Amino acid sequence: MIKKVGVLTSGGDAPGMNAAIRAIVRAGIKNGLKMYAVFEGYKGLVDDDIIEVDRSFVSEILMRGGTIIRTARLPEFATIEVQKKAVENLKRHGIDALVTIGGDGTYKGAMALTKLGINCIGLPGTIDNDISSTDYTIGFDTCLNTIVQAVDKLRDTSSSHQRCSIIEVMGNRCGDLALFGGTACGADLILSPEYRPDDDEVIAKLRHIHMNRARHALVIVSEKLIPDLNQFAEMIAEKTGFDTRTTVLGHIQRGGSPSAFDRVLSARLGVHAINLLLDGKGGRCVGMKDGKLVDFDINEALVMKKDTTKELIDVIATLK
Ligand code: F6P
Repeated sequence: MIKKVGVLTSGGDAPGMNAAIRAIVRAGIKNGLKMYAVFEGYKGLVDDDIIEVDRSFVSEILMRGGTIIRTARLPEFATIEVQKKAVENLKRHGIDALVTIGGDGTYKGAMALTKLGINCIGLPGTIDNDISSTDYTIGFDTCLNTIVQAVDKLRDTSSSHQRCSIIEVMGNRCGDLALFGGTACGADLILSPEYRPDDDEVIAKLRHIHMNRARHALVIVSEKLIPDLNQFAEMIAEKTGFDTRTTVLGHIQRGGSPSAFDRVLSARLGVHAINLLLDGKGGRCVGMKDGKLVDFDINEALVMKKDTTKELIDVIATLK
């Protein structure tokens, strides 16, 4: 039976991570476990930056963006020597299990530690929504709302000046932020890794909008898709006659108070993770599919394919 459980956040931060930490710590304490915070993700495991925490440690954090236990990316954690160092430190504290919040890199670390005898459960925490074993990741909904607010503002100024606005959103090679965000904002064009109208189609559409004297055009683009956004904008301006501006939303998308949806998702996934550990499980990741709590073997989860995207692309194609 496990007695001591650690929690860490790793990779890019996401709104709702604090809500998840709160749920994990409180669910653990409620079940008689001693709970530990690991600072700066896997780095904190290796550097032994670990403290025992009580209920009050997670008071007043539900509504805060970022992660109070900080985060880091540690590519070296892929090596067995570094993993063994982490296990040594965990054993010294008597910690038998971990809940790790992050993206697929975080899941890989969790799987490695489980193989070395520390049961780990992964929680999907990333704005990118690029984890196929859950319909939604923690932070995605808040990020979408940030995108919608920003694009609504850009629409105002684009409209006043009769401009075309090209807006780059994050996603790390997953187009969900662009596809969902573009749909929510009524973008005229969405360019994502899964749905990429070619340049001729982009130009024809924007030329048509311009010739019909529409007040503005909004184009949402996934990051890492177009090598030079300014050059792309110049090409559009030249070929369509639209005065064109680019905006890279950048890290503003990662901040802010989590939405109600992300807070509830975090609470449900956090409690589910503790229940799995209490059942003696490890090497699993939790998620929500079709409104239900689910969990999968991490290795299986890492090779799953997302099926929601195709349906949304059909909607986008129908509405364009
Ligand atoms: O994974 C979250 C994310 O924000 C991606 O959307 C983006 O590509 C990346 O992290 C940016 O990473 P960093 O904060 O290290 O620049």
